[in-house]
Amino acid sequence: MSGLFITLEGVEGVGKSTNLLFIAQWLQRHRIDFVQTREPGGTPLAEEIRELLLARRNEAVDPTAELLLIFAARAQHFNQVITPALAGGRWVVSDRFTDATYAYQGAGRGLPVAVIADLEAMVQHQRQPDLTLYLDLDVTTGLARASQRGQLDRFEQEEKLFFERVRQGYLERVAANPQRFAVINAAHPLDEVQRQIAARLQQLVDGIPPKNSADS
Ligand code: TMP
Repeated sequence: MSGLFITLEGVEGVGKSTNLLFIAQWLQRHRIDFVQTREPGGTPLAEEIRELLLARRNEAVDPTAELLLIFAARAQHFNQVITPALAGGRWVVSDRFTDATYAYQGAGRGLPVAVIADLEAMVQHQRQPDLTLYLDLDVTTGLARASQRGQLDRFEQEEKLFFERVRQGYLERVAANPQRFAVINAAHPLDEVQRQIAARLQQLVDGIPPKNSADS
C-alpha cells in the first residue's frame, strides 16, 4: 500500500518548525513509518540548489531562473526521495512543496500560473499531497517572529507587500483545493494549533477526506 504525502506550508514566522516536530512526534506515537524532508532541498543536490536560492547576492535573481532552480531541486527530490518512499509504503512529511511555488513565484514574483502548472505536470505528473496543512497568520506578526531568528535570507529580506501577495496566493490555493487543504489559524495558542493538526492527522489515518477548512 502506498504511503501518504503530507505537506506543511505558510509564510515566514508562522511556526512551521515547531509544528513539524509535533507532526513527527505524532506519527511516531502512532507507529507510522515516515520520511521527514523539505523543499527546496531533501537530497544532497537539491540542498545545494537551496543554498544557491537562499544566498543573498548583489546580482538580482531573475524570477524565471529562480523558478527553474526550484523545479530542478523538486525533480531530484520528488524522484529520488518522495516517490520511492511513498511506493514503499512510507509516509512523507515535507516542509513546503509546490503550493509554495504558486504562492512565492506565482503570487509573490508575478510569474504566470500556467507556466508553474506546466512545470508541475512535467515534474510530478498528477501527484499531489494527500493533506496540506497551511498555517495562516497575518504577515506583520509572522515577519516580526522571523526577524528574531538572526541573519535574513534572500526571501526573508523581501518587503512586506511581497509576503502579503504570498499569503494571498496561499489562500487562493486553499480556495481552489478545499478538499486537500487544512487551514490552521497560527495566531491561536500553540496547544490549540496542535490540537487541530492532530485532528487532521487522525482523519487521514482514519481515511476520512478532509472537509473544507473554513471551520478551522
Ligand atoms: P524555509 O526554510 O522558510 O522553508 O525557506 C525556504 C524559502 O524558500 C522560503 O522563503 C520560501 C522559498 N520557497 C519558494 O520561494 N518557492 C518554493 O517553491 C519553495 C519550496 C520555497
